[in-house]
Amino acid sequence: MVTALSENNSALSGHNIQHVPVVTIDGPSGSGKGTISQILATKLGYHLLDSGALYRLTALAALNKDIPEDDVEALAEAALNLDVVFKPQADGEQLVLLEGQDVGVQLRLDETSAMASKVAAIPQVRDALLQRQRQFRQWPGLVADGRDMGTVVFTDTEHKVFLTASPEIRAHRRHKQLIEKGVDANISHLLKSIIERDERDRTRTVAPLVPAEGAFVIDSTSLTIDEVVQQILDFIGFTELK
Ligand code: DC
Repeated sequence: MVTALSENNSALSGHNIQHVPVVTIDGPSGSGKGTISQILATKLGYHLLDSGALYRLTALAALNKDIPEDDVEALAEAALNLDVVFKPQADGEQLVLLEGQDVGVQLRLDETSAMASKVAAIPQVRDALLQRQRQFRQWPGLVADGRDMGTVVFTDTEHKVFLTASPEIRAHRRHKQLIEKGVDANISHLLKSIIERDERDRTRTVAPLVPAEGAFVIDSTSLTIDEVVQQILDFIGFTELK
């Protein structure tokens, strides 16, 4: 059971949400976080939070409404009032509807990625999205994919993973992903924007992209998806029933 929750899916009342297990998977884009988080959520029967999608959605909402990138107040308001629904699909992917429109392709466009990185550097936007992210913590557990899942959003969990990979392999993976989705992409532009985005994400003053204390750090450059998943399952002490 992989369920991506919409904000309207309220947390179970009467249960201490702090007891709901969370596995945080932080790292730069292209490190394989998305795919690995999805597989882990399926294996564990946990819910899934793709927190990057919330920043991308805020960016897209801002672009659609022509909100300038320096209008902090309007951007924070757009983040707070995101009209978004995540619909899990049978294949484990999720359909993302912004104001009722399927925005799966738009979310991945370079323009949206660049704007997402900018809005993600604004503390008021991060604050506006914090509660929404924590609402995904529901029984029987959550796999949370992002940049600051272990350092800011779910600090109390003991299962923190930091996934990384070389910029070249990440550009290559992103290129393949875009082409498969029918989006035209240029690998050298992707590499350049990945390097720029990394630098911004790592050096921003609010929630910089760094491993949480005690995080299990995995470099996936020369590992297969299955090998990474297995390392994480071993780390959290999960034994598969045969
Ligand atoms: O993982 P992604 O590429 O979809 O993330 C989009 C942008 O949002 C990226 O610039 C990093 C930022 N982000 C963030 O700052 N914090 C998160 N928890 C998730 C994403």
